[in-house]
Amino acid sequence: MARISLPPLAHGPAEGHHSGIREIANEALRTPGAIRLDVGQPNFRTPDHIGDAGKRAIDEGKTYYTHTQGLLSLREKLAAKLARVNGIHVTPDRIACTPGGVGAIAAVFASVLEDGDEVLLPDPGWPNFRMMLSWTDAKGVFYPCRPADGFQPDLDALARLITPRTKLLVVNSPNNPTGAIYPRRTIEELVELAQRHNLWMISDECYDQIVLDGTWTSPASLAPDDPRIASVFTFSKTYSMTGWRLGYVAGSAELIDTVTKVLESNSSCTSTISQVAAEAALDGPQDCVTEMVTAYRRRRDLVVDLLREAGLFIAEPAGAFYVMADVSPSGLDSRAFAFELLRKKGVSVAPGSAFGEVGKDAVRISLASSDQDLREGVGRLAEFVRLRS
Ligand SMILES: Cc1ncc(COP(=O)(O)O)c(C=O)c1O
Repeated sequence: MARISLPPLAHGPAEGHHSGIREIANEALRTPGAIRLDVGQPNFRTPDHIGDAGKRAIDEGKTYYTHTQGLLSLREKLAAKLARVNGIHVTPDRIACTPGGVGAIAAVFASVLEDGDEVLLPDPGWPNFRMMLSWTDAKGVFYPCRPADGFQPDLDALARLITPRTKLLVVNSPNNPTGAIYPRRTIEELVELAQRHNLWMISDECYDQIVLDGTWTSPASLAPDDPRIASVFTFSKTYSMTGWRLGYVAGSAELIDTVTKVLESNSSCTSTISQVAAEAALDGPQDCVTEMVTAYRRRRDLVVDLLREAGLFIAEPAGAFYVMADVSPSGLDSRAFAFELLRKKGVSVAPGSAFGEVGKDAVRISLASSDQDLREGVGRLAEFVRLRS
């Protein structure tokens, strides 16, 4: 058959890069026995009472479409959780359930961004923010959160990046990949800045309940009447429910109405089975969350000690389940480092370059792996650097 010449693909996604995390993770999948410290996949089973509720939902035939925003009974429970945990007070009609937190962020992007808009994103930051922008023709502008500042945002630099085209500020605390939690004063300043320049804000709080030290602040709790703040959450991390694909966004009536139109068009609703399981997660005992957080804290301490001993320590994460390690003494850029480490030592970590420019001399170690794998994997990483330096 004659070769078919394709009509052009959409240039944004077609010319964009694959996720730098997936790139190394895919290579690790092809490497027998590799120690996986690369992805943010908790190594815990979804707690049984949640899984059982999902199974019951199937048995009871709860397999129909729901309201686009999700079951009202679930959104009532979410409203109570938002008030209790996040200090955000919204009615159920101001919450929309989405296919993971990522679905919520995508729906808000689609609701507010237009061609030529500029979006302020953290660097280092979760790669999906950048990748999603490729569909919208909006442009990412990156505010630095440098290692020397403990990965806290440089607010002066951020303010200087604002132009008349800036439309949206994305804040992610607790942060992936750095584990930084921004203090209340920083969140206040971010909110003030967004308000002064009339920006939308997405506060990605997908790690809201993975807090290892201290407390954190939800921007929306400081500005309850501001209709421009979208707060995004997920069941993936808190309850180890990544595969159930359930997140949610809370915001103003105007924003959630537009988000709902986006969701009507591209997902109709999220899985009923997952929604019923999520109700069980919210209603049930919360000690499963405490146990997982206790494990992440213990692993954080273990990894931080190993990195300090090896001279590769940068900053102590206060939240989420990641630690950045300085690999500059190896003389390799982080991507080359990650591939060499996998090839020579059978350990897979995410290169800092996957998260932007600022973390390019570092790699991200995921604490969502077992203590044993972390001890062995970080030990081999340290040895690899020592042999090269
Ligand atoms: C910063 C951040 N936001 C959002 C998400 C979305 O997760 P999910 O779509 O599984 O809820 C992730 C997942 O890794 C993340 O790291």
